[in-house]
Amino acid sequence: MPAILTEPRRSVFAVIDQHCHAERRQRFLDLLGDAAAVIPAAPLVTHHADCEWPFRQNSDFWYLTGFDEPDAVALLLPHRPDGERYVLFVQPREPGAEVWTGRRWGVEGAMEHFGADLAHPLEDLAELLPHYLEGAEGIAFRVGHHSKVEPLVLQAWGTQLDRQPRTGAAALALVAPCPLLHRLRLEKTPQELERLREACRISAEAHELARQAAQPGMGERQIQALIEQHFLAAGARGPAYGSIVAGGDNACVLHYIANSAQLRDGDLLLIDAGCSLSDYYNGDITRTFPVNGRFSGEQRDLYDLVLEAQIAAVAAVAPGGTAEQVHDTALRVMVEGLLDLGLLSGDADGVIEQGAYRHLFMHRTGHWLGLDVHDVGAYRLGDHPVNLAPGMVLTVEPGLYVSDRLPVPDGQPAIDDRWKGIGIRIEDDVAVRDCQEVACGHEVLTAAALKATADMER
Ligand code: GLY
Ligand code: MN
Ligand code: MN
Repeated sequence: MPAILTEPRRSVFAVIDQHCHAERRQRFLDLLGDAAAVIPAAPLVTHHADCEWPFRQNSDFWYLTGFDEPDAVALLLPHRPDGERYVLFVQPREPGAEVWTGRRWGVEGAMEHFGADLAHPLEDLAELLPHYLEGAEGIAFRVGHHSKVEPLVLQAWGTQLDRQPRTGAAALALVAPCPLLHRLRLEKTPQELERLREACRISAEAHELARQAAQPGMGERQIQALIEQHFLAAGARGPAYGSIVAGGDNACVLHYIANSAQLRDGDLLLIDAGCSLSDYYNGDITRTFPVNGRFSGEQRDLYDLVLEAQIAAVAAVAPGGTAEQVHDTALRVMVEGLLDLGLLSGDADGVIEQGAYRHLFMHRTGHWLGLDVHDVGAYRLGDHPVNLAPGMVLTVEPGLYVSDRLPVPDGQPAIDDRWKGIGIRIEDDVAVRDCQEVACGHEVLTAAALKATADMER
């Protein structure tokens, strides 16, 4: 059993350093051609009245800057000379504000500690942005997400276009930075993989603690407390997303985060929880086990099936494969098993083609994982699924949810009551690895969270 931690581990402070952020900026600058990029930080978000949520930086901004304050804007300017390509607009030092909300790095700190070539107070953005964008052939800015910065970008570009007949130059296009930036974020560096390993290690420990503590009569929220206590004690920021602690039928609600019920003897408990580190790398793990330590016959049949599907899908993660193949692998095992158990009828190909399994398995088998839990990066480019490559990290998380919430499709058997209220998902985080380094082509970052059927019992 993992020990209760009384001090944060050193490794949680081993954040990705400024050298890594500088390398990322250079790679992004190389991809931008002669387009100037405008990348805003996240704002603070109000929770209720004038209370704010804990600050969460925008992942694109963080990836490029490592700067963890709200209300900032980064400019990446490939068209400018050396020493003027990275400009940060930040909140200036202001003792009267800092005494309430904490220290700021300010303009000087942005240059001294975060590698900015030039830095300015955010309030100067409207005045200086047209100057910095001048001479760029395009402007890379994500429209629709940043209500304060967007009008400034559009105004600067509009002014350039108005003056073009006399100046002879203006940016020709507003382009999306995401395809370029998210291509970089999709393939993790060795340092990033190390951070994801750490997030997964802490998350796995929390799952082990939770399984060993769970008893009939406990509240779902008590289990949530145990898990999140471990995240914080280990030095993580906290949960990466709303922890799902779902006893019995609650597990059939995919995004159940109320965690307000009592655990019942004879039910399963599904826990989907992962931590977020100080530098925002995330774990995302789901485990399901019997509250009283023994599976019923039906629970065991379905658990064994989800586990078989999950193991087969994990085995399909390797360079050259695709996320779609990973999903298809899990789906086929699930459908064949459900046919054997009499929960589906027909032949596997027909059931898959018609989607006649979706009342039992209604989500995809995984998603990219990184600075965002549902991380950025394309799954398809046009008609082509993106090939898995070393450094990509994805979750593998098939599940079965037997309830009467969704209608049974025509031609499929009615569900006997003995199966109802069983929700099972098993989720691991898997890095694609070079087969020269890891023969099977992948590394299960969450392997420390047990999942064998026998290990779920006591
Ligand atoms: N915990 C969110 C997910 O598994 O996608
Ligand atoms: Mn997930
Ligand atoms: Mn999850």
